Amino acid sequence: MWQIYTVFTDAAQPKPYTHQKAQRRQANAVGGEMGYGGTTMSGTEVVVEAFTELAPHYQATMDRELRQFWGLTYKEFIRRLIGAAAVKPGESVLDLATGTAMLPRVLLSRADKCSRVIGLDITPAMLRQAHEAMRGTGLAARLGLLCGSAMALPLAAGTFDVALCGLGTHHMDVPAMLSEARRVLKAGGRLVVSDVGASAFWRSIWGKALLRLLLLRYGLTQRSARARAEVEAFPNVRTASEWQRTLADNDFGGIEISETLAHRPWYPCGLTIKATAGAAG
Ligand SMILES: C[S@@+](CC[C@H](N)C(=O)[O-])C[C@H]1O[C@@H](n2cnc3c(N)ncnc32)[C@H](O)[C@@H]1O
Repeated sequence: MWQIYTVFTDAAQPKPYTHQKAQRRQANAVGGEMGYGGTTMSGTEVVVEAFTELAPHYQATMDRELRQFWGLTYKEFIRRLIGAAAVKPGESVLDLATGTAMLPRVLLSRADKCSRVIGLDITPAMLRQAHEAMRGTGLAARLGLLCGSAMALPLAAGTFDVALCGLGTHHMDVPAMLSEARRVLKAGGRLVVSDVGASAFWRSIWGKALLRLLLLRYGLTQRSARARAEVEAFPNVRTASEWQRTLADNDFGGIEISETLAHRPWYPCGLTIKATAGAAG
């Protein structure tokens, strides 16, 4: 069963979300379910559990981690992503994996306003934080919150001028997410993604050996859902050239990718990716 909620008024409250459909599609896409300490959880369930735990202190955690990795505050990261998107007045925007909707909230509070933003996320607890943060801001008329999977979007084709995704793609099957983003974008629409990228270190023999050790250590010792979600996300983290190929395979062209260097060789770099729908040539 597929239940979604949209919130366009302050009065509307988030309703419970069931994600069996997204789960089924993701399980098909990534090849099944994974076991943790005797229980069996799908990748989607682990992500939802992780961000349900994290939701109350999400912003502080991101601030700490982004400073550590790239020397950026969370707000600087959001502003950079908005700068890269260069949204024009009147454009319709979809923010994939919106979390607490910081990105759309900052975007909509700027002077050159786009018409409407939909923030979509799979974790109801994150959307509840978003809903709370919007209270009294007057943004509810132009910011809709939608609970669903970016890999199976409950949205019509050719709807959006711009699709954004900050720090979310490493939790997803990237080809499935790109195919859905392409479907809901208008021809010539823009995709802007900013997330962790795989660096040369992680592709080296030493990097792969360290990764195996980390996976083993986390698998044996970590009880936190966030740790499990991040470990499970490793295979989804791509290099810039892997992004190029996957974007082209999904009918995106005009690809520009810039890298933010990590503060330590073993931290992931940051990648900001811009591409145009239907311009694969
Ligand atoms: C690190 S947070 C990023 C939130 C926000 N974009 C930001 O920049 O603060 C990752 C978010 O991705 C969401 N997420 C993970 N997989 C998803 C999926 N398949 N579809 C939609 N949201 C997803 C999680 O629920 C979480 O809120």
